[in-house]
Amino acid sequence: MAFASVHPDLFQILRGYASLIPPKHLQFPSHLEAQAIHDFLVAHILTSAHFHAYPPSQQHQKSFWKWIIPHLEKKICADPDSELEVDSRVYEHYLELLTSSALFSSQAISRSVGAPGLTGQSPPPPSYITHFWSPENKVLPPNGSVNLGAYQTTTLLESRTMIEAGTTGLRTWLASLVLAQHLIRNPALVHRKRILELGSGTGFLGSVVASLQLLGPAPPGTLWMSDINDAVLSRCRDNVQLPCNSSSSHPDARCCFLDWSAALDPDGGIAPLTSLLYDEIDADLILGADLVFDPDLIPALVAVLYLAFQPGARPRCALVALTIRNPTTMQKFIETVSASGLVLETIHAQMDDRVFMEPVEGSGDANNGINIFRITRTSSRG
Ligand SMILES: C[S@@+](CC[C@H](N)C(=O)[O-])C[C@H]1O[C@@H](n2cnc3c(N)ncnc32)[C@H](O)[C@@H]1O
Repeated sequence: MAFASVHPDLFQILRGYASLIPPKHLQFPSHLEAQAIHDFLVAHILTSAHFHAYPPSQQHQKSFWKWIIPHLEKKICADPDSELEVDSRVYEHYLELLTSSALFSSQAISRSVGAPGLTGQSPPPPSYITHFWSPENKVLPPNGSVNLGAYQTTTLLESRTMIEAGTTGLRTWLASLVLAQHLIRNPALVHRKRILELGSGTGFLGSVVASLQLLGPAPPGTLWMSDINDAVLSRCRDNVQLPCNSSSSHPDARCCFLDWSAALDPDGGIAPLTSLLYDEIDADLILGADLVFDPDLIPALVAVLYLAFQPGARPRCALVALTIRNPTTMQKFIETVSASGLVLETIHAQMDDRVFMEPVEGSGDANNGINIFRITRTSSRG
């Protein structure tokens, strides 16, 4: 991605486009010169090498251009002296999107006709999504300009439905963004640390942690991302290794199978899990986001935390960010952690749009609060 400076309002459009924010939640910067808006759209979106390699879904691109082209035309027309014309490549690109979406829907119809007994509704194809974030946790200047070189980007290929192929792990959930924000604000928590992430999903949080570790003092530490689902693990691995993500150059970041329920299996699973937790991972910090979406998972999750906290040389700590969907489930989690003898503190956490743009639609959890719990074996801060 080219390092350049852009007006903060254009940067908001760039971030929104990149992170699949529906255009109705973006603001056309009518107060800026038509030429500046036009040139920004061509240089940073239409011809961007990054978006060429990691494009947002065609559907998102189509709605973005459908929204912005009339605004741009209106802005140009408002200045009768202007000789500016919209770059023909903008129209060509929009036409291509219209043609390919018409083709896609006719293929979907013929698939549903040819597959009796099925609903005919296949999930939308996965999309790349790119998050811009500043390791210095800068507040966007209201005027002046944003230096894109000061921003990191984390790009992922993600599902666009809540559950796909029987798992919730193929997309990033809001709790991950909130926990990532907390770590970006407190990078010393991950610098040179041994980190284990439980239920890593697409790898968003892991990729941010890897980038933070690389930005800190050397050596960066180690990072283990884990999950129970093979398709999720493979997606996580691919995302963390995308060449555009700085996480791809982390010397010690890996993905592994880890099923929490093994911690409740004294006959078979617990021995290999204990060996993985102590002999290989030996984490200083355990991370997890949106892991308690089903109350039945709580005993296994708490059992694995309890196991990981067993006496050892290291003062271990866990940070678990949970979306409050059902207060009873949240209460069950708190009670189960306390009953196990672990100590739990709540850290105030709120999504801050200046760090990541909050997904507004389709996330299903955007209106719920998020708690970050800090869990330790004793109340002394480790
Ligand atoms: C709601 S998703 C959250 C994914 C990611 N942390 C995020 O916030 O975007 C829950 C994740 O937990 C994983 N998971 C569910 N049960 C598990 C278990 N018993 N052991 C390990 N991982 C599990 C799922 O595969 C899924 O990736």
